[in-house]
Amino acid sequence: MPVAPFKNDAPTDWGNPENKEELNSSLEFVKTELGKEYPLVIGGREISTEHKLASYNPALHNEVVGYVCQAGKDDIETAITAARKAYESWSSATFQERALHLFKAAEIMKRRKAELIAWQVYEAGKNWTEADGEINEATDFLEMYGRNAIKLEQGQELVSLPGIENRLEYKPLGVGAIISPWNFPLAIVTGMTVSAIVTGNTVLLKPASLTPVVAAKFMEIMHEADIPDGVINFVPGSSGEMGDYMVAHRDINFVSFTGSKEVGLRIDEVAHTRIPDQRWIKRVVAEMGGKNGVVVDESADLDAAADGIVTSAFGYQGQKCSAGSRAIIHENVYDVMVNKIIERTQALQVGSGNENNAIGPVIDEKAFKKINEYVEIGKNEGILVCGGDSDDTEGYYITPTVIKDVTPESRIMKEEIFGPVLAICKVANVEEGVEVYNNTEFGLTGALYTNKRDQIMYARQKMDCGNLFFNGKCTGALVGVQPFGGYYMSGTGSKTGCMDYLLNFVQAKTCAENF
Ligand code: NAD
Ligand code: ALA
Repeated sequence: MPVAPFKNDAPTDWGNPENKEELNSSLEFVKTELGKEYPLVIGGREISTEHKLASYNPALHNEVVGYVCQAGKDDIETAITAARKAYESWSSATFQERALHLFKAAEIMKRRKAELIAWQVYEAGKNWTEADGEINEATDFLEMYGRNAIKLEQGQELVSLPGIENRLEYKPLGVGAIISPWNFPLAIVTGMTVSAIVTGNTVLLKPASLTPVVAAKFMEIMHEADIPDGVINFVPGSSGEMGDYMVAHRDINFVSFTGSKEVGLRIDEVAHTRIPDQRWIKRVVAEMGGKNGVVVDESADLDAAADGIVTSAFGYQGQKCSAGSRAIIHENVYDVMVNKIIERTQALQVGSGNENNAIGPVIDEKAFKKINEYVEIGKNEGILVCGGDSDDTEGYYITPTVIKDVTPESRIMKEEIFGPVLAICKVANVEEGVEVYNNTEFGLTGALYTNKRDQIMYARQKMDCGNLFFNGKCTGALVGVQPFGGYYMSGTGSKTGCMDYLLNFVQAKTCAENF
């Protein structure tokens, strides 16, 4: 079956009154849906549990978005059995048959886009633009992984010999655990889950505890797209209670994780602990944190650089793995750049995502406290030139904060804060800037603003990260355009949004038939 070439979904034009009106009605509609209960889904059956967790609106922290049933160890056992059973038929379907479900799901998501944006606003504290970008990323994953899976059907071309027919085919791994973070509650849940199932695996999906309602909406869409029962089993739950149990389970063949470095490393360790009579080495895919930065040369377009720095640092309140939380600036343009950054940062409106404010709330009380602690640390490590205020009376708001004159060894230059805090550091030249950029344990995204070709060539070689941008912001990598994933403590080295990612979830089989 021929499939139209892949194309990224376009951002919604909020200048169009019809789009605005549709979103406002969706915000009203979703408000009437808040506070409902969401069951586990195992083998296609909805299961209500006694233990439920409330998910709250970070912009209005007394507002319950939904109550989500929590899986315990027994539910994990039931889910693994259901996934194993579904694997029998799902793994023997063709890649194309499975891909068709993804294309259908993409259409459903597009149709429900305004509603899904509204859920993101209430549960994740996103503004319209950020939520819109995220739904696009989710549909792009569906479209891209569907198309790439169809290519996998052909296996690999091999050398042919007389009297012997050789084929290399891709086979699934088995049953996997999908463990996702809260900051892209739809896009990452979608990308991680559908890459694993389109390749023939069946999964247990454990979403983040802060955004499980958006994940439940993903499950509704998968059901509407006719994904067979047991292929995706929805098991939200406390990681303390069932996280290690699920990861260590002998019948889990792979773990696909996106989240923090600390949890990723723990999962890697637990997954690779020896089990008596073990028959399988679990595959672990771990996409982890970042401490990204933007380097600016004196030759750069300084306005473009300031725009890129501010967008990278403060988009979704700095709560992106790709967020550019360090600006590393050439001494000859340092003061001018600091002023441009302050001017742009002060222009950002803080307030709820419902009204599409540039800066919404941070995700919860724990994040609010942690980020404020980093602001205090930053005040001792440099000079606060912007922001530094916070207010949690209604929602968890922190004004975008800029701290200048920090040294490369300061904590706010090395540790992932995951909030709206930008550290600025002065360097003598681009070589030193790249050295400062590399001075963290991470290696996810980076950017260099320059007008010198030799500096671009230098940074291509020397800036150690998985996603490098020249004269552009370091966030917002697009599926199929800038495949995404980091080095070192940012991840196990795979790239989402392209064929490579699918190869994480298959094993090759070579069949040689003599005739
Ligand atoms: P987190 O590590 O706290 O949690 C991620 C997931 O792991 C959640 O579902 C959580 O419940 C689960 N978990 C925690 N302990 C577990 C255990 N012992 N066993 C099994 N599961 C367990 O991360 P988070 O706060 O949800 O997300 C923010 C982090 O994710 C940041 O560090 C960010 O940089 C990173 N991130 C990385 C990427 C990427 O592509 N590299 C993308 C998004 C977010
Ligand atoms: N694609 C997202 C970004 O680059 C993760 O910000």
